[in-house]
Amino acid sequence: MKVVVLGATGTTGQFVVEEALAKGYEVVAFVRRPGVLKERKGLTITQGSIEQQSEMRDCFTGADAVVSCLGARPSLRVFCKGTNLQQRTLPKIISAINDAKVSRFVLMSSFGSGETAEKSSWFLKIFLYHFVAKKLFDDKVMAEKSLSTCHANWTAVYPVTLTKDSAIPTSDLVTLNRVRQVPGIPRLPFANAAKSLVDLIPEKNRSGQRLLLTIPGGWR
Ligand SMILES: NC(=O)c1ccc[n+]([C@@H]2O[C@H](COP(=O)([O-])OP(=O)(O)OC[C@H]3O[C@@H](n4cnc5c(N)ncnc54)[C@H](OP(=O)(O)O)[C@@H]3O)[C@@H](O)[C@H]2O)c1
Repeated sequence: MKVVVLGATGTTGQFVVEEALAKGYEVVAFVRRPGVLKERKGLTITQGSIEQQSEMRDCFTGADAVVSCLGARPSLRVFCKGTNLQQRTLPKIISAINDAKVSRFVLMSSFGSGETAEKSSWFLKIFLYHFVAKKLFDDKVMAEKSLSTCHANWTAVYPVTLTKDSAIPTSDLVTLNRVRQVPGIPRLPFANAAKSLVDLIPEKNRSGQRLLLTIPGGWR
């Protein structure tokens, strides 16, 4: 299995690379800063731009799956002014996936974006999702409309807040339309998020699904 990871230099992305290598997958990290990653067996580090569809198409050709852990790095500027990173790049990523005839796409989104905010606790809804992170999330909502043009089997994952704590034994992955509420302020380790993203790669029966990713029992 050959898997291209976007955002491979990020916190989740680095865990995803490790997890995919541990499964014996051939991993290609398509990154703008190749020096961040350590070269090792099974990993190809390709420098390129997520703004350039043709560079991505060339990189994706021959791959079985693309996993995206891209995100605007949180900063005061992003929270105040917003970002259009996802709107600018996701349609190009999807076009490159279509051009390269990749059959599987796993996208990391965020719980709290768009209508998922309505399923969160009042504190997160008011403070975090409707105020602090609204502009970051609005970018994702707009961008994810382009998933309808994706020819690959795609799955979008909506993780709760992530932490650098050690991995916990399990996490819950559940289709968003089964979720009424996510109580409290659940926090899941990045390592668990990465494991779920990688586990989803061969699961083509998850095609077209939007999944909440949270702590065990962290939803009703
Ligand atoms: N952290 C959380 O609690 C959490 C929870 C739920 C969902 N999410 C979402 O999950 C995704 C990953 O989160 P994370 O915390 O792992 O992100 P992160 O550590 O901030 O990593 C972001 C990645 O995106 C890349 N990137 C950003 N702008 C880029 C650009 N213009 N060109 C190329 N690469 C670019 C970064 O590359 P560089 O290293 O080169 O900057 C990095 O690899 C994000 O969409 C985030 O919103 C995060």
